[in-house]
Amino acid sequence: MVLSHILYRSSGRLDQFKQDCEDILVSARRQNQEYRLSGFLHAEDGIFVQWLEGPAEALDFVAGKILADPRHRDIAILAKGEIAERQFPRWSMGFSTGESAPLFEYLAEQDINTHDKRAYASGIHRFLLERVA
Ligand SMILES: Cc1cc2nc3c(=O)[nH]c(=O)nc-3n(C[C@H](O)[C@H](O)[C@H](O)COP(=O)(O)O)c2cc1C
Repeated sequence: MVLSHILYRSSGRLDQFKQDCEDILVSARRQNQEYRLSGFLHAEDGIFVQWLEGPAEALDFVAGKILADPRHRDIAILAKGEIAERQFPRWSMGFSTGESAPLFEYLAEQDINTHDKRAYASGIHRFLLERVA
């Protein structure tokens, strides 16, 4: 079975960001279990970053729905493609917020060049992994 992943960043709707996060998590966790997907979602200041992984076909199908979701826009795909093993095997969808774990502070502290897409993606990947360590 080919395992694949996608990592993106998007902007949410500020006026109902908190409610959107709660609704998204409920349906994401249910559907990800059904499709054997796992991953992590971080929400901060109206921004989402999400890592989603699993069997390539299921991932393409669910990622297609997510990318078309009107609850976010300005979606930038930071990384995608095959992976050798799951990064979040125990999480149908982990979740953190900027209040408990500020991503942008982390990227600044690590001196990550946010204009370098590869460095940005790998910084976010490390940040998300630290949330479940
Ligand atoms: C930021 C964000 C992250 C999401 N993450 C997931 C996810 O991990 N899994 C999932 O099934 N749906 C996720 N969704 C919700 C999907 O976009 C969609 O609403 C859901 O798959 C239900 O689709 P359906 O009504 O066609 O079944 C996410 C939506 C947003 C805005």
